Amino acid sequence: MPDAAGDDHTDNRPQEGGPRSEKQPADAQRRIYRAAAFCLGVLCILMMVGIIASSIHFTSEKGELKIRYDHLNNNYSQLLEQVLVSNSQLQEEVKRLKGNIEGKLCPRGWKKFGCSCYIRSDKKKIWSDSRADCQQRGADLVVINNKEEQKFVTELNSHGEAWIGLQAKKEQYTPTGMTYEWEWVDGSPLTEIFSESGMPRHVSIQNTSAYCNQHGNWTKNQPNVIKNWICEK
Ligand SMILES: *[C@@H]1O[C@H](CO)[C@@H](O)[C@H](O)[C@H]1NC(C)=O
Ligand SMILES: *[C@@H]1O[C@H](CO)[C@@H](O)[C@H](O)[C@H]1NC(C)=O
Ligand SMILES: *[C@@H]1O[C@H](CO)[C@@H](O)[C@H](O)[C@H]1NC(C)=O
Repeated sequence: MPDAAGDDHTDNRPQEGGPRSEKQPADAQRRIYRAAAFCLGVLCILMMVGIIASSIHFTSEKGELKIRYDHLNNNYSQLLEQVLVSNSQLQEEVKRLKGNIEGKLCPRGWKKFGCSCYIRSDKKKIWSDSRADCQQRGADLVVINNKEEQKFVTELNSHGEAWIGLQAKKEQYTPTGMTYEWEWVDGSPLTEIFSESGMPRHVSIQNTSAYCNQHGNWTKNQPNVIKNWICEK
């Protein structure tokens, strides 16, 4: 019996194992299917999570790109504006510098000496009309301030006599009567005579005017005499 039982037992096992082993594969398969389904589900969820995450990522990246694009666009317009502004400023600066250079050069026909420009007239006029002509050209009759300028004026005046910006204006009461002192057209008094001629310090007739001859000598004359003249500006 025990044998039989053992046999039975041993016999039964494969016998029982027979239907069991038929049942077992079905269970295992079901388990495998379940596991596969579970895996697929997890995979699906993971994929969906991935898709959502990346779509969120892309949307946010798109938003960032849009912001950056707007910034760049903004910066571009600002830069363009700045370039235009700088360009017009540069053009103005060029114009100003050109004006400066032209201002430092003498106009056509004028001669430069020191910081001034000079011209000797071709025509002859009385002293006051000579001065008016200079003033119309933005100048005045020449004021001779030093020996160098006197030398330059003498060279410019080598063709003959010309009015200079010196006239007897300032009244001076003296015991012998009224006299007039010389005054330059810029309002300064005559302090030094850069000429060898004996120019009087005082004259008795108002508006007596001075001219310079080809030797550089200064001489007085009545203002209503016509002469060439020298302008300075
Ligand atoms: C735009 O210009 C500002 C300065 O004006 C700067 O700080 C910023 O980084 C620039 N933006 C880009 C996107 O270049
Ligand atoms: C004019 O100048 C010359 C040379 O500078 C001089 O010899 C002459 O005496 C001067 N004439 C008069 C009238 O002063
Ligand atoms: C001198 O000139 C001034 C103008 O500058 C004039 O008013 C005055 O009458 C003149 N004097 C004489 C004596 O011509």
